[in-house]
Amino acid sequence: MGGQPDIVSTVAELRARLATARKEGQRIGLVPTMGALHDGHLSLVRESRARSGLSVVSIFVNPTQFGPNEDFARYPRTFESDCAKLGGLADVVFAPSVGEMYPDGFATRIEVGGPALGLESDFRPHFFSGVATVVAKLLIAVMPDEATFGEKDYQQLLVIRRLVTDLGLPLEILAGETMREPDGLAMSSRNAYLSLDERKIASQLNIVLRDINKKVQQGERVAALEIEGREALFRAGFSGVDYVAVRDAETLAHIETLDRPARILAAAKIGTTRLIDNLAV
Ligand code: PAF
Repeated sequence: MGGQPDIVSTVAELRARLATARKEGQRIGLVPTMGALHDGHLSLVRESRARSGLSVVSIFVNPTQFGPNEDFARYPRTFESDCAKLGGLADVVFAPSVGEMYPDGFATRIEVGGPALGLESDFRPHFFSGVATVVAKLLIAVMPDEATFGEKDYQQLLVIRRLVTDLGLPLEILAGETMREPDGLAMSSRNAYLSLDERKIASQLNIVLRDINKKVQQGERVAALEIEGREALFRAGFSGVDYVAVRDAETLAHIETLDRPARILAAAKIGTTRLIDNLAV
């Protein structure tokens, strides 16, 4: 492999392109993205590529996972530079149109429970159903042996694992570590919205999570740390805090103290930009 990936925009073309690889028994890896690729995405693609004979990256800004007042229209779309970044890394870029994914009369949505309940769903009620619907469609289109998702969207990762288990889809779901800027800010396509001043505030999100991590490991109670975390984010300059939560790492159930593997998750806003992050305890 090498050079630029093949770009396909319909499921029919995609299936034709993958048929030979499948016949030859090559392992097919998929990394679903919404484009605006940064080093976090590229590290997922590298990991996927190292395990697969044929590496597919999908680029699709999925309208069904955005609420009416969210950033669908202004979500960064940088298709040409995304494809250039994938040179030598991906074999195929699948970049369908909205009409290809959601043809006229489309009337089906996947409803998700379990790990989808609470946290993000309390603030973005449409989100996981939109993600589950598009991810199921992408998996059915590509039929990969494995698909890789970032731990940056930790709740999403658990929802997708649940989806794949519940629907009995025959593939492995793999997780890639969150890539961070030198000051700890998790890489995200939405970081592009931040002004210089906002960017400084944004770096505090990870610092607050790391502080909670230290204290929960010292035995401090979760409820108090969640309040402390919210206050610290407001003090740092965040204009809104959706949640700061320490939860069971597998189920996202509430916990009182660190009596099992846990995950610290937070979502907070700086002006109109909403950032999320999480840390393993
Ligand atoms: O994490 C994302 O970029 C998106 O939610 C995903 C998984 C590509 C579905 O649109």
